[in-house]
Amino acid sequence: MVYQASTDRYDKMIYNRVGNSGLKLPALSLGMWHNFGHVDLFEKSQKVVRRAFDLGITHFDLANNYGPPAGSAEENFGKILKKDFLPYRDEMIISSKAGFYMWEGPYGDYGSKKSLTASLDQSLNRMGLDYVDIFYHHRPDPDTNLEETAQALDLFVRQGKALYVGVSNYNAEQTEEIIKLFNDMKTPFVIHQPSYSMYNRWVEDGLTDVLNKYQKGAIAYSPLAQGMLTDRYLGGVDEDSRAARESSAFLTVEDVNKQLDKTRKLNEIAKERNQSLAQMAIAWLLRDGNMTSVLIGVSKISQLEDNVEALKNIQFSQTELNKIEKILAS
Ligand SMILES: NC(=O)c1ccc[n+]([C@@H]2O[C@H](COP(=O)([O-])OP(=O)(O)OC[C@H]3O[C@@H](n4cnc5c(N)ncnc54)[C@H](OP(=O)(O)O)[C@@H]3O)[C@@H](O)[C@H]2O)c1
Repeated sequence: MVYQASTDRYDKMIYNRVGNSGLKLPALSLGMWHNFGHVDLFEKSQKVVRRAFDLGITHFDLANNYGPPAGSAEENFGKILKKDFLPYRDEMIISSKAGFYMWEGPYGDYGSKKSLTASLDQSLNRMGLDYVDIFYHHRPDPDTNLEETAQALDLFVRQGKALYVGVSNYNAEQTEEIIKLFNDMKTPFVIHQPSYSMYNRWVEDGLTDVLNKYQKGAIAYSPLAQGMLTDRYLGGVDEDSRAARESSAFLTVEDVNKQLDKTRKLNEIAKERNQSLAQMAIAWLLRDGNMTSVLIGVSKISQLEDNVEALKNIQFSQTELNKIEKILAS
């Protein structure tokens, strides 16, 4: 069946400006780190992307290594684009990244010009695209001069392979350093992609200050702490959950259990707000305007629908914020 996007798709989503750039991103974006690889059911992934777009989610985040196997999320996304989204390309913001291990030898990792150039070309090929909207350096490289990485990203924009660039997992100092290099070259560096959730608040110790100082955007990844900030684990660990799946090594049952007490208490506050815990966790990230967008992952359409509903109430009373702080500090 030919996909036709829903005509009311722009009615409910909030779109926020990315720093002081001309670009806007939806308050909720969809990431493809999990659930979009060759190990997953293609038709399910396709349905999630369709539903996301119908709900006003215009931004889709990928990376060279997403899958598993690495590269397969971009391949699948390319297939979905070709089948369903060719008429809608100009309504989509598609990002990719390079910087984590991708292929063997000295050029398949980190941030040299050689590695980033080859990786971006591979990503464009896998997705069948002429350009990505945002290209990120995925993590700092301890061995490559920051100037080389910045110049490579700048070059991709001049070549028309990326419209904007960003960095991910850079700390506050590294971010300020690369922003100065980009400013000198007039590179459209617009956004940082840090991990950020109620359970992981490192960005509050300096990074958001730097981004605000230079009027740059931020998109929070793993906003639900990979599912821990939802009701997913309140009744035990399902065998199809991320913590139980063998293909996802970054969340364990031990991680889940360690937070369970806090998760239960947070869930009570969410109930008082008439929200699911996932909705409250998303709203909390949008509470102070420091995050341009919240980059969720989902394994089911029902999760996507639940998460988008968060936007109905992103206000918190001081009492609610205090209660949340108390739980997080406990
Ligand atoms: N730049 C980087 O280094 C980096 C690193 C990690 C992620 N990212 C980006 O951020 C995106 C999101 O990361 P993430 O997947 O870790 O985000 P997340 O939103 O914190 O976690 C997603 C998981 O939470 C569960 N979930 C989501 N909504 C739910 C709901 N309403 N109710 C119950 N459970 C729900 C699902 O778990 P189940 O699968 O168990 O159902 C889902 O797979 C990635 O796809 C990627 O684009 C970037």
